[in-house]
Amino acid sequence: MSQRIQIFDTTLRDGEQVPGCQLTTEEKVVIAKELELLGVDVIEAGFPISSPGDFRSVEEICKAVTEPTVCGLTRAVEKDIEVAAEALRYAKRPRIHTGIGSSDVHILHKFNSTRDQILERGVRAVKYAKKFVEDVEFYAEDSGRADLEFLARLTEGVIAAGATVVNLPDTTGYLLPEQMYERISYIFENVSNIHKATISMHCHNDLGLATANTLAGIRAGARQVEVTINGIGERAGNTSLEEIAMALKVHKDLGFETGIDSSRLYPLSKLVSGMMRMPVQANKAIVGRNAFAHSSGIHQDGHLKNSSNYEIINPEDVGVPSSEIILTARSGRAALRHRLQLLGFKFEKLDLDKLYERFLLMADERKMIHDQDLMELVG
Ligand code: KIV
Ligand code: ZN
Repeated sequence: MSQRIQIFDTTLRDGEQVPGCQLTTEEKVVIAKELELLGVDVIEAGFPISSPGDFRSVEEICKAVTEPTVCGLTRAVEKDIEVAAEALRYAKRPRIHTGIGSSDVHILHKFNSTRDQILERGVRAVKYAKKFVEDVEFYAEDSGRADLEFLARLTEGVIAAGATVVNLPDTTGYLLPEQMYERISYIFENVSNIHKATISMHCHNDLGLATANTLAGIRAGARQVEVTINGIGERAGNTSLEEIAMALKVHKDLGFETGIDSSRLYPLSKLVSGMMRMPVQANKAIVGRNAFAHSSGIHQDGHLKNSSNYEIINPEDVGVPSSEIILTARSGRAALRHRLQLLGFKFEKLDLDKLYERFLLMADERKMIHDQDLMELVG
């Protein structure tokens, strides 16, 4: 039996913090409804105390969705928690996500505090949030750089205070996957009440390791992952939802599953990218323009013989209509013949050889060859 991984989407909170990506309440509601259809378990709808607009967005998202838990972010500050509880009052399943810095860097340079004082503030925040909602998630910010013995003490303390989920974020995207695996394993081995809460992964992508680190956390026992559509988020971004969903699907043998309807991934990626005016890099895994495009002669020939030669995912499984064969000067005869046949042309081998010579000259000059160019070539 596969184990279920909870998908916590933070596109509308961590993702929306990106400069230039701000959305209106109406746009956020559209995305939240799509996230519900996609099958996410939790939507982090915003940081209600941050602005009246964010407060209203959280309220409206609570009214607009019924299935997922709706979560609001707070600092470990009573006023933040009160405002979040108010914004979440229409949610069928509300969650308050409260927390505080846990690394010595944050404890010293952000809070001018001590480990013991931070532990006390974290516990107090969880107890306060529990007065408003049953479901309280605690985040130990910058836990990737925190002292492990202290992190275990903090985790144990907030679980004893009632935290249902403990988020151990790699806020600065610092860790390597094997370090993440060892640290999360340590937490499971050294926190006596760990079975009373879900451990969550929230990884940033500063070293391009967010997906690998999140998977390492899952292998060590985490059962919730915090992700965004297209991997958007602070600086180099967060773990991308589509990468985690598909990595777990492709590697079913690992024994994990999600509630994600993968056929909705590509359309939602396009919607988010358009609304946030944030282009997706062409070679982005799963949803990039080139994710299912084949351009070298060797790959095109292999792909045309059998798509499994160069594709580990059927494009339709993620909502991409079909793979693409791109014609360039690196393409071979097989790709040229295929494209011409699709356009309705029939020819003998000799004709193809001649056409191919002219095609290469044209491709060297024009870089990419489109159907219009092929008509000119044949005509
Ligand atoms: O990266 C981080 O630590 C966060 C927390 C606020 C959860 O986004
Ligand atoms: Zn974050």
